[in-house]
Amino acid sequence: MPAVIVVGTQWGDEGKGKVIDYLAEQADMVVRHQGGNNAGHTVVVGDAEYKLHLIPSGILYPDKLCVIASGVVVDPKVLLDEVAYLHNRGISTDRLRVSADAHLIMPYHELLDGLAEDRAGAHKLGTTRRGVGPAYMDKAARVGLRVGDLLRPATFAARLKRVLDEKNRLLAKAYDMPGFDFDEILQTYLAYGEAMRPYIANTSVVINDAIDAGERVLFEGAQGTMLDIDHGTYPYVTSSHPVAGGACIGAGVGPTKITAVYGVVKAYTSRVGDGPFPTELDDALGQEIRERGNEYGTTTSRPRRIGWLDAVVLRHAARVNGLSGLAVTRVDVLSGLSELKIAIAYRYQGELMYEFPDGLDILHEVEPVYETLPGWQEPIGDVRRFEDLPPQAQRYLERISELTGVPLALVSVGRDRACTIALRELF
Ligand code: GDP
Ligand code: IMO
Ligand code: MG
Repeated sequence: MPAVIVVGTQWGDEGKGKVIDYLAEQADMVVRHQGGNNAGHTVVVGDAEYKLHLIPSGILYPDKLCVIASGVVVDPKVLLDEVAYLHNRGISTDRLRVSADAHLIMPYHELLDGLAEDRAGAHKLGTTRRGVGPAYMDKAARVGLRVGDLLRPATFAARLKRVLDEKNRLLAKAYDMPGFDFDEILQTYLAYGEAMRPYIANTSVVINDAIDAGERVLFEGAQGTMLDIDHGTYPYVTSSHPVAGGACIGAGVGPTKITAVYGVVKAYTSRVGDGPFPTELDDALGQEIRERGNEYGTTTSRPRRIGWLDAVVLRHAARVNGLSGLAVTRVDVLSGLSELKIAIAYRYQGELMYEFPDGLDILHEVEPVYETLPGWQEPIGDVRRFEDLPPQAQRYLERISELTGVPLALVSVGRDRACTIALRELF
């Protein structure tokens, strides 16, 4: 009964969408379990490119059940727009299920996300301003509204009234801003609820029934390990748990059901948003890789910050996720560089540090210690077997596995579904 989790090992945008799309072919069900429409997953199939923010990448196959589980925060407008986007492109969403327990992103969440960022000035986090953080804040504060509430108008109206009074007071007193109109939000959201009704389900039951029936379930991570609220570079993180354990919590599946955890590794490092980034290449080479790799955010179009691969980060990701295999992406982007560097440790106050430090203050002061490997010149987008890669590329990939203690499972050499080298059975 394979239940496989795919997580990002860095700061997001590792190519999870591409890897999920590849693995989804062998799956019966694909589940999103955390985050919201802060995510941006790009999938390329032949000439077609799809950008998905909320709906699992498995939706591109006609026969996979796709689940948005309770750990996700759902902006209903974004969800319905994404459904319409897929319909326009001839893709059915009949197989979509959305948890009744998933929390809703409300208009005040989006506004407050932006206001908090603007007010923070130099201390801003660089959020996607989609209201994701404030929605999780309300969930933890136990004043959140949930997808299932939309189907019970009286309950929804009563809860909304209480919460909105408080939010409008906050907007007036803390930000000197006009509040939101209760009736307008009520009517808009109840209409969203009606449109979402066919998709709403008890998804923990749906997922566990599938696992118990021997179906293959794939858990699609969003964001990355270094953006995890507990295990990332706090406070420069997102407000959910992108690590593997988050899949169990967010989907309502016990850890004993999970059979493998794959970590997606970009062959170098990128980050959007603020916060420390020890191996950042704030120079012409970083700019060159950004252009070659077209490293601009799927969700916000912001230029991604670029750096060398960081094995200290990857070892941390291997540990907190219990990785069983690595899926290394974008290896093709590195063709043509004379040499490649991997940070194998950090130097802090003269001492070598092999484990990712606890505490952001230390991270600001560390200096990466690099190992240099030879690059390769030839393009590799057409290679389909590991042994056909240039020896330098094979060595680079093997070194990543050695430094992390995690075997290679998959190598991606291009955006298209076809540009993939599987090194073993993945399910
Ligand atoms: P995600 O958030 O982890 O799903 O990653 P994004 O989709 O935001 O960003 C990854 C980008 O890299 C997308 O544009 C993908 O199409 C692209 N991509 C994925 N794998 C590869 C690869 O092996 N080579 C190249 N050149 N692009 C890739
Ligand atoms: P995918 O799934 C990259 C970053 C934001 C910001 C921080 C907090 O495509 O990998 P938030 O809006 O979540 O409160 O912002 O997290 N961030 C991402 N960076 N990829 C993502 O998703 C991200 N989702 C959030 O840039 O630094
Ligand atoms: Mg992305």
